[in-house]
Amino acid sequence: MPPAASSEPLWPLARSLPALTGRGQDRLALHLPAHRRGRGAPGGDPRGLPWHLDLPELPAIGGPLEADGAVAASQRRLAACVGAAHSWYGVNGASGLLQAALLAAVPPGGRVLLPRNLHRSLLHGCVLGQLRPVLYSPPFDTATGLWLPPTAAQLEAWLPRVLASGPLDLLVLLSPTYQGRAAALADLVALAHAASVPVLVDEAHGGHFDLAADLPPAALASGADLVVQSLAKSLGSLAQTAVLHHQGARIAVEAVERSLGWLQTSSPSLPLLLAAERSIAWAWGAAGRRRLGRRLGQAGRLATALRDRGLPLLPSDDPLRLVLATAPLGWDGPAADAWLLERGVIAECPEVLSLTFCLGLGPVRGLARPLGRALAALAMAGGAAPPALAPLPHPDLAEPELAPGLAWRAPSRPLPLAEAEGEVVAEPLCPYPPGIPLLLPGERIGGATVAWLQDLQRRWHGQIADTVRVLA
Ligand SMILES: Cc1ncc(COP(=O)(O)O)c(C=O)c1O
Repeated sequence: MPPAASSEPLWPLARSLPALTGRGQDRLALHLPAHRRGRGAPGGDPRGLPWHLDLPELPAIGGPLEADGAVAASQRRLAACVGAAHSWYGVNGASGLLQAALLAAVPPGGRVLLPRNLHRSLLHGCVLGQLRPVLYSPPFDTATGLWLPPTAAQLEAWLPRVLASGPLDLLVLLSPTYQGRAAALADLVALAHAASVPVLVDEAHGGHFDLAADLPPAALASGADLVVQSLAKSLGSLAQTAVLHHQGARIAVEAVERSLGWLQTSSPSLPLLLAAERSIAWAWGAAGRRRLGRRLGQAGRLATALRDRGLPLLPSDDPLRLVLATAPLGWDGPAADAWLLERGVIAECPEVLSLTFCLGLGPVRGLARPLGRALAALAMAGGAAPPALAPLPHPDLAEPELAPGLAWRAPSRPLPLAEAEGEVVAEPLCPYPPGIPLLLPGERIGGATVAWLQDLQRRWHGQIADTVRVLA
């Protein structure tokens, strides 16, 4: 069923503002933050920042974990829109909400099945919660150096193997990827549920293209138990704003609230909450959805125009992500990024053999010419095509020898990468962006992995250190 469009311009949080920030409201406002609504702003100058909106959890406002107040009403409205049982805003990025979701679903010592291309926040969640990750390797495209979503056939083969070695508390799926590649979530979630395993979807980069097509957000529609979306990556909100959705009875809502309480600030930023609400209210309103639809159409036409110029854009399920394969142009990704940066083209995510550009929700018109010209010039300046990138030489399923939370806290020593074969990793090796750890604490480093990392070190300038920290 398509989600219901919202025609009401103001959602609860925005509606509560005039009464709180109107004339005369601030003279006797003797509360924190200490800038006292901007009257005590540093240097006495409140210009340039929204001090007057930076209010604490006054009763009329409340917070993400309060039952009453405008934030709670806004979250209820959001949950009703997306078809979730519960939704919470987060102001510590998708990272904070992914960690809360992990800790809600997996007890200390419990096992979680995670993709090799996991965002580092999920690793950090395992460390915080003393969880034991099992890593699965989704398909890897050697020509572009990019991960692809796992298939149902792969998951069907992995689940019994993982369950044979002990209980599994959670499956984490990543969809879409940074590059906008979406998984067949419904099939994957159904397989996990059939094995009595709940599912968390890291949908940090998604949600918006379903909305524009008048479809419910993909991860929730697939039946996933917990879903995290970044509103700054998918909608037009401010950095650090994100949402966590919950549905079904596999994970108790009380457990989610408890772990949110552990990990979220006790002073949520109202400007961030307002930005979160506004981005959602806009996207769920009829005008916003029309605009989103137009943006996606324009983005599709931009991609076609660039392809017509012979530029090798990779397939993406998200029209707002333009992914350039750099090898056919004679460049590796980081060098192409540096070359373009000098000419004023700022990509979002350089990887070994690709560059990802994010169109976001800003105007697309007028981009085709300058971007096409810059990329054509990049192609002209290219040299020999760099070779394909072999996948990380990990088995398709692997469990670190030691829990990452133990390994990362254990005494460790630095070791030149060339001498690291046979040692156990103490600290992750994690190029950023995209923030995908290549070595996890607790994993033993094989000789093939050392050789692979040395190759990567030559190709991904400055992103792979010469030394790794291993257990002492
Ligand atoms: C797939 C994925 N998940 C989660 C995150 C974390 O999002 P945030 O930066 O909002 O904490 C990122 C950030 O890049 C990401 O790429």
